[in-house]
Amino acid sequence: MSDVSTAAPTAPYLDPSLPVPERVADLVGRMTLPEKIGQMMQLNAQDGVRHVVEEKLAGSILHASPENVREAGELVEQSRLRIPMLVAEDCIHGHSFFRGATIFPTQLAMAATWDAGLLERVARATAVEVSATGIHWTFSPVLCITRDLRWGRVSETFGEDPFLIGELASAMVRGYQGDGLSDPTAILATAKHFAGYSETQGGRDASEADISRRKLRSWFLPPFERVAREGCRTFMLGYQSTDGVPITVNDWLLNEVLRGEWGYTGTLVTDWDNVGRMVWEQHVAADHTEAAERAVKAGNDMIMTTPQFFDGARKAVENGVLDERLLDAAVSRILTLKFELGLFEDPRHPDPARIAAVVGADEHQALNLEVARRSVVLLENDGVLPLAGGFEADASGRAQGDGTARTLAVVGPNAHDPHTMLGDWAGASGQVDWLPDGHPRDMTSTVLDGLRAHAPASWTVTYAPGAEILSVGPDPEGTHFPDGQPRPPVVLPAEPDEAMIAEAVEAARGADWVVAVVGDRIELVGEGRSTATLDLLGGQVALLDALEATGTPMVVVVVASKPLVLPPSAHRAAAILWAGNPGMQGGRAVAEVLLGIVEPTGRLPISFARHVGQQPTFYNQIPGQHGSRYADLTQSPAWVFGQGRGYTTVAYDDLRVLEPVVGTGETVRAEVTVTNTGSRPTIETVQVYVHDVVTSVTWARKELKTYRQVALAPGEQRRVAVEVPVSDCTIVDPEGRRVVEPGAFELLVGPSSRDEDLLVGPFAVV
Ligand code: NOJ
Repeated sequence: MSDVSTAAPTAPYLDPSLPVPERVADLVGRMTLPEKIGQMMQLNAQDGVRHVVEEKLAGSILHASPENVREAGELVEQSRLRIPMLVAEDCIHGHSFFRGATIFPTQLAMAATWDAGLLERVARATAVEVSATGIHWTFSPVLCITRDLRWGRVSETFGEDPFLIGELASAMVRGYQGDGLSDPTAILATAKHFAGYSETQGGRDASEADISRRKLRSWFLPPFERVAREGCRTFMLGYQSTDGVPITVNDWLLNEVLRGEWGYTGTLVTDWDNVGRMVWEQHVAADHTEAAERAVKAGNDMIMTTPQFFDGARKAVENGVLDERLLDAAVSRILTLKFELGLFEDPRHPDPARIAAVVGADEHQALNLEVARRSVVLLENDGVLPLAGGFEADASGRAQGDGTARTLAVVGPNAHDPHTMLGDWAGASGQVDWLPDGHPRDMTSTVLDGLRAHAPASWTVTYAPGAEILSVGPDPEGTHFPDGQPRPPVVLPAEPDEAMIAEAVEAARGADWVVAVVGDRIELVGEGRSTATLDLLGGQVALLDALEATGTPMVVVVVASKPLVLPPSAHRAAAILWAGNPGMQGGRAVAEVLLGIVEPTGRLPISFARHVGQQPTFYNQIPGQHGSRYADLTQSPAWVFGQGRGYTTVAYDDLRVLEPVVGTGETVRAEVTVTNTGSRPTIETVQVYVHDVVTSVTWARKELKTYRQVALAPGEQRRVAVEVPVSDCTIVDPEGRRVVEPGAFELLVGPSSRDEDLLVGPFAVV
């Protein structure tokens, strides 16, 4: 029987000197069945918090406005056991929905830096801002592998390569969790969406993930395994089903693999109403009682936004089909987090003084500028960039010109759109209702803002939007989904507008250069917003065609959530660069790259297709047997994983594998000479791939195994050492075991994943 007496001030669970397991056991022993069930529930605070705390006894809330965070904290303190609330939010590239917080580039754009140390600092800065505001848990990072570019959530990922994902995810988890949960600036990280969610069908979000266990183990699970073993405290289960089983109740994945093989002891949270979806959407449970029973039996701890779980789980226990001890285990894991965060002693309510000191702080803006600069990827350049040969910045950051008068025409629908600079999960991106106007406008620099502020003072910068991308209209299937969530509006591509194009053409004709900033918009990004095409929508292609016809040298800047397919006029442009959604400092960073104040060093974490029909285009595919062409098009993407140019040039020579025959327990060591053959300093990303020449089963022709980032002054030459443990030179056998198969291998070293960029160093494993 539960002890239902009110917590005495001397109750052991309130005694911080006792070990956490003892406090947890004491508290669980005092909880009623409804309190335990409530503790497992995370509810949407946008519906108000009073009933969430008083009726549902919820242990956690998400999407809580600053007012709701405060109110929930007060209500909990009046509750019987005063169990502190765990407040969660999607702070996925900065404190997304806190007005005035620092919004960094999206995860995909940050991945273009390939710089784990930088991302760890971004996550740390985010945690410092988030923790000051009463939030304890971020649903970040995303470890999904992008496979189909039509998927709406590509910008939330680190791209297409499992090794790079593991490096960057591990760094962000370290940054969020800091020195351990007792650090008041630490927040819980979440590895999501476990696992295989991104293996969509047709790019459609949350479709059935048609994926074998071997394929999961080959590419999808390794980044998750890494952060599980490194102590990421929570995992979120995706929306998808595999082989007919919703991941939320996939016993093999949750229990055999995650908790069994990997020894994970952390907490599992479902995605949004996963338990309810088993009833109303997937029709694999007759009612919420059955769904609750199956979810708890599978080992879920925190049930996100399924209010019916409250009655469902109670009935399942009362009917005798669900053992209350399973609830105890889940509640214990949740309470362990709360005790380890120290919330019983200090519930970490919003702290106005700390908020004033750290949210949007100057040093975070400086870090944001650093990461935005590093995230810009130069894809093509016929020499037009840097503009006018490039500049140094003066003390104010403006390019120091020689007084020559020049005109720069800045055109395009994304040249001056602050929201597209931020991308999804930021301000007014649609997930929350308390920031209808987004973040303060003056915190975000658009490309136009950046060029106006940083071009030489003698230059004239003109602007014409040139095209619209889209408008939106109501979904013909209705305003709401069956679970009551609003359906996003449908996108109506804009028609080319002759007057807008004419204005842009006139601006381009009178200019020395035209910078055309094109891409996508928030309405084409996110859950439920996968796209059927990858084209530049609306009037953008007509605009680029018309600009090309002016003969003015054109630089195409793609500000887009994901790789888009560019039209022939863009491919013929003098230069092309991609700036993801580069965050609040993105406009300045792009301007600095165009002006040569900053050397472009970003490398693609994801391939760009030539045509949507080429999907998928990721580099580490198992090659087919009938060549590499469609009848009507090459299969090769426009730009591949790892690519990116600089204004300077870097040569690779003399790759030498030091011991060409190695045992399975040894490490392949090699050296390569990299030389900055140009005239500007750079940071070169030396990429190291492995090719297993003959494998017992089909396998990728090359996989990234490590990389080094090397700073090189003009003319500098360095011998760079690289190491790959043989234990990383694995394939996954038909039984799903990761094995090293002795025999011939090749170490491939160079500046991108393209065959023509890679030096080859043979070695053998014995
Ligand atoms: C659904 C999304 O799939 C997930 O990534 C997010 O963390 C939750 N909603 C909470 O907002």
